[in-house]
Formats: sequence, structure tokens, C-alpha cells
Amino acid sequence: MRFDILTLFPDLFAPFVKETIPGRAVAKGLVDIRLINIRDFARGTHLVTDDRPYGGGDGMVMKAGPICRALESVDRIGEHATVLLTPQGRLLTQPLAWELSKRDQLILICGRYEGVDERVRTGCADLDLSIGDYVLSGGELAAMVVVDTVSRLVPGVLGGERSNLEDSFEDGLLEYPHYTRPRVFKDREVPEVLLSGDHERIRLWRRTESLRRTLERRPDLLEKARLTEEDREILAQLRKE
Ligand code: 6GU
Repeated sequence: MRFDILTLFPDLFAPFVKETIPGRAVAKGLVDIRLINIRDFARGTHLVTDDRPYGGGDGMVMKAGPICRALESVDRIGEHATVLLTPQGRLLTQPLAWELSKRDQLILICGRYEGVDERVRTGCADLDLSIGDYVLSGGELAAMVVVDTVSRLVPGVLGGERSNLEDSFEDGLLEYPHYTRPRVFKDREVPEVLLSGDHERIRLWRRTESLRRTLERRPDLLEKARLTEEDREILAQLRKE
């Protein structure tokens, strides 16, 4: 899987690429992360990448020219998609991350300032993506979120670590609580069932806690979750408690 990231701040990515799970996937050769500095495609003596908005108003707008020339410099491999990171984009969810992980290449455009000339979106991008309903001062953090979320779904990236199929959101539910040693920490004990060695009881407890959390914190998720008959019975019980 290859990521080409177009940004005015490529240096922001160095520690991310060095230290994280996607970083280790780069070292293993499973993921390739390339950084393209949009400023390298600016023109004139001042290498301007932004300008005042037509129609007036505060703030600056990123110019279409440097971004589009930067895009043209990127070679395309296999199935690829060009993604504009913007708070106005489609919300990144786990199912969408799975979709994106099937591509061979994602080209990510990081916007800055108050916005990006609309003709980048309409002329150059296949998809606009947002990582949530809040405003970042630039697309760089969002790009890191996309690279992290998508690359851990690429086969081999998680290696011997626990399967991503158990993660929160993979079946549309929040995850159950986790515990490790010591058995008692500041007077709080690990739930007895987890020490029982009874795999069926443990499975049922975890599923119940997963459903309980989702019901309490994110009831909206239950509408789309993949629920079994057993799940529905547990939920009916939890609703009575
Ligand atoms: Cl992709 N960009 C910016 N600037 N803010 C965001 C975002 C993206 N997603 C959520 N907020």
C-alpha cells in the first residue's frame, strides 16, 4: 500500500513515520509513505501557495495551481484514489477505512489556512474526507489518522499482535474492558470471571460488557451493528437493569 502525501509541512510526518505502527510497516516494506512538498510546485520568486479569497473576507485560500502540479508529479500505481482532507468531507468510518485499504495507492492532499480553492476538489480529487466534526488547523493530522487507520488493515501490518477484527467498531460495537496484572490495583479487583479460565463464561461476559458500553455511551451505533440473536437477548436484559 502506498501513500503519497501532499503538504506544505512534510517535516511534521518524520516522527510519525519513524515511531508508529505504519512506520514499522514501512520498515517491513508493506507500506510506502512518500511526502511531496506543495511549495516545490509554487511559481515566482516568492513561491506563493496561497492568496486572498475572491469575494473578500478574512484568511487565505490555497491556490489550485501548486496543488495540481504536485498531483501531476505523482506516478500512479494500480488502483488509486486522490483524497482531499477537509472538514467538509465524508466522515471516515471503519467500513470506509476497509474500502480504502483495498487500494494500491492513496494520494492525500492536506489543506491549510482557511481552505483550498474549490477547483482542486472538483477537478482533482476523487473523494473528500473528514476525520470528525471539529476543525483542525490543517489536514496533516487528519492525513496521519488516515494513514494509521488504513495501513493497520493492510495484511501483515499488525503481525503477531491481536487481530484487528476484535477492535472496537469492527462489528459496530465498542470494545469490552481490558485488564492485566496486578489482580488488585488501588483496591480495585479484576472481575472474577476473567480469572476463571472458563472460556465460554469469559466470552459471554466480554460480549455483555461490549453491548453494555455501546448501549450506555453510543446507542446510535446499535442501529447499524451486526447483532446475533444472543446479542439481542443480552440487550433486552441490559435494558431492564
Ligand atoms: Cl480532514 N481537515 C481539517 N482541517 N479539519 C478537520 C478534518 C480535516 N477532519 C476533521 N476536521
